Amino acid sequence: MASHTARTPPGREITAKRLQTSSARQFYDPDVDIDWDAPLHPDKYFVPEQLVTLYGTELWQAMSQRQRLELSKQEMINTVSVGIWFETILMQMLMRLAYRGDPTSEHVQYAYTEVAEECRHSTMFAKLIEKAGGRPYRQHPRWYLIGHTLPFVLRGPSMWAATLMGEEVFDVLQRDTMRDESLQPLVRAVMRIHVTEEARHVRYAREDLLRTLETSNRLDREFTRYVAAQGAMLLTRSAQYRRAGLDPRQARAQARDNPHHREVKRHGAERVVAFLSDAGLIGGPTERIWRRSGLLG
Ligand SMILES: [Fe+2]
Ligand SMILES: [Fe+2]
Repeated sequence: MASHTARTPPGREITAKRLQTSSARQFYDPDVDIDWDAPLHPDKYFVPEQLVTLYGTELWQAMSQRQRLELSKQEMINTVSVGIWFETILMQMLMRLAYRGDPTSEHVQYAYTEVAEECRHSTMFAKLIEKAGGRPYRQHPRWYLIGHTLPFVLRGPSMWAATLMGEEVFDVLQRDTMRDESLQPLVRAVMRIHVTEEARHVRYAREDLLRTLETSNRLDREFTRYVAAQGAMLLTRSAQYRRAGLDPRQARAQARDNPHHREVKRHGAERVVAFLSDAGLIGGPTERIWRRSGLLG
C-alpha cells in the first residue's frame, strides 16, 4: 500500500503526547461530575453582572433586579449556544484532520481525544440551557451556511486561527465567570470543567498554528489573517434582548455604545490578540476589520 501520510514533525508529536497524558490524567464526565439535580438559586446571576452587555448603561439602571437576572441568563444561553455551534464545526475540522493524517501519530490521536472532549462540552452546554429553562439560540442563517463550508475550506493555519478565535476569548471570560463566587454554582461548575480542558486545546492549536505557518505561502497567510479578522467580527455581535423582555433596538444601541462592555470585549480578546500579533496575523488589509471589531487595545 502506498504511504499517503507524511511523518509528523517531532515537535508536534511531543506536544500531542504531553496533551494526551494530561487528558488521561484530568478529564471530566459532566454527566457524573455535575450535580444536575441541584436546584438553581433564584437570586443569583448566570454571568458576572459586569460581563452583561448592558451593565452600566441607562437601561441597566432602569431595569429591575429580576430583569437583570433574566438578561444574565439569556446572555449565558447565548454564549453557550454559540459555543455549541463553534464546537460542532471544530469537531468536524478535527475529524477531517484525522482523516487526512496518520492514525498512529500522537497528533491524530490527540485530535480524536479533543473531539471526545468537545462532544462532552457541547452536551454539557446543552444540558445547562435546559436546566436554566431556556432554549438555545440559532446563529444567523448566514453563519449557519458559512459553518457548513468551514470544515472543507479551513486547514492548517487558517483552521487553527479560527479555532483560537473561538476558544481564547471565551476562555478568558469563562475564567472570570468561574472565579465569581456570587454566581449560580451550576454555571461555575460548568465553566471550571470547560476551562480546564480548553487549556489543552488552546495549546494544541497555538503550537500547530506556528508550525504550519512556517511552511505556508503568502496566500495561505493572507487567508489566515482574513479568517481571524472575520472571527473578530463574529465575536462582536451583540446579545439578543427580546427574550429578556427588552426592546431589542434600544438595548442593542445602548450595548454598542457602552464603554464598559467594549472594555470587557477588549479584555477578553487581549490574550489572543497578543498571540496573533506576534505571529504576524494581524496586519495588512485585515487590520481595518480588526479595528472595526473594537477588539484591539
Ligand atoms: Fe469546549
Ligand atoms: Fe476546545
